[in-house]
Amino acid sequence: MTEKLVTIFGGSGFIGRYLVRHLAAQGWRVRVAVRDVPKAWFLKPAGNLGQIALIPCSVTDPAGVAAAVEGADAVVNLVGIMNERGKRTFQAIHVDAATTVAKAAAAAGVKRLIHMSALGADPQSPSKYAVSKDAGEMAVRAAFPGATIIRPSVVFGTEDGFMNTLGWMAQVAPAIVFFTNTNPHAPQGGGSKFQPVYVGDVVEAMAQALTGEAHAGKIYELAGPKVYDMRALAHIVNKETGRRRMIWGLPYPVAEIAAMFLQFLPKPLLTPDQVKLLKLGNVATGRRPGLAVFGITPTTLEVVVPTYLKRFRGVQQTKKLRLQAR
Ligand SMILES: NC(=O)c1ccc[n+]([C@@H]2O[C@H](COP(=O)([O-])OP(=O)(O)OC[C@H]3O[C@@H](n4cnc5c(N)ncnc54)[C@H](OP(=O)(O)O)[C@@H]3O)[C@@H](O)[C@H]2O)c1
Repeated sequence: MTEKLVTIFGGSGFIGRYLVRHLAAQGWRVRVAVRDVPKAWFLKPAGNLGQIALIPCSVTDPAGVAAAVEGADAVVNLVGIMNERGKRTFQAIHVDAATTVAKAAAAAGVKRLIHMSALGADPQSPSKYAVSKDAGEMAVRAAFPGATIIRPSVVFGTEDGFMNTLGWMAQVAPAIVFFTNTNPHAPQGGGSKFQPVYVGDVVEAMAQALTGEAHAGKIYELAGPKVYDMRALAHIVNKETGRRRMIWGLPYPVAEIAAMFLQFLPKPLLTPDQVKLLKLGNVATGRRPGLAVFGITPTTLEVVVPTYLKRFRGVQQTKKLRLQAR
């Protein structure tokens, strides 16, 4: 058992909660830097008494970040946003705040830094999100050359945003909608391609990257074992929710118009920048090492999603399952 201390920014989010539990189980002392401490109390039972400490801190506050990394052996920055609002711009969170964390880690003599980027980070991308993720990587590496950069594809797991949104659509809408550039009935018209990766595999890779010096300064692309187009994912959602919804392929201009309105919801369902990301898809380039380097066999989507998409089944469906189980 190690007594090392890791500071995690964004530890209360979807990926963060898995990382906190994983590292606590490995014996790390975990300091979770969060904006809203009571919102993160649910993390406490993941460790022994005193093993997980929650401290109030925003990554946009350099003094708070410096205090949060003091005495830490390792730091992980998972903070990221999918849409901009007010001062919470991609530049502010993905670049400026990431630089603050990296500089503070370097100044505090932290040995290992892991920075969470995203597959598709690219200075030439039409998406501001992807451009900011690339700029964040460069800024972090300038401030902390030994930082390990993780670029996951879309991540799936019980609390994910991606598969749960499709599941919710199957529950409340007459059809599961996807967007495509070509005839949706043609074999190639299934929309953009994705290579979803399991959250458990992502945190296992990060845990290994925290301890192995060999991972310093490296960039990893973490992707799942299979590539799916949007239509294939919609079929999986239909099957696992037992809903038999129609599956509609709509042209991208419909998404662009919808995003103009949906971006103003308190929790935006779709933004114009997300439409640009959707168009690009999210598949590993193969130019960077991936899960294999960590000896991880990627978990298949079909094995995990039934465990949580079942919450979108109809009442009768659940009853049928209960009766079958008797
Ligand atoms: N999920 C995916 O499919 C996916 C794919 C590729 C890359 N990524 C990247 O992976 C990282 C984590 O993703 P996720 O899905 O776990 O995101 P998430 O669930 O939205 O979690 C983000 C975390 O960041 C925290 N945060 C936001 N603003 C903050 C601030 N100013 N100061 C301190 N903490 C702040 C949030 O805490 P609050 O509760 O305070 O808001 C939350 O704990 C992100 O960088 C994301 O871009 C995710």
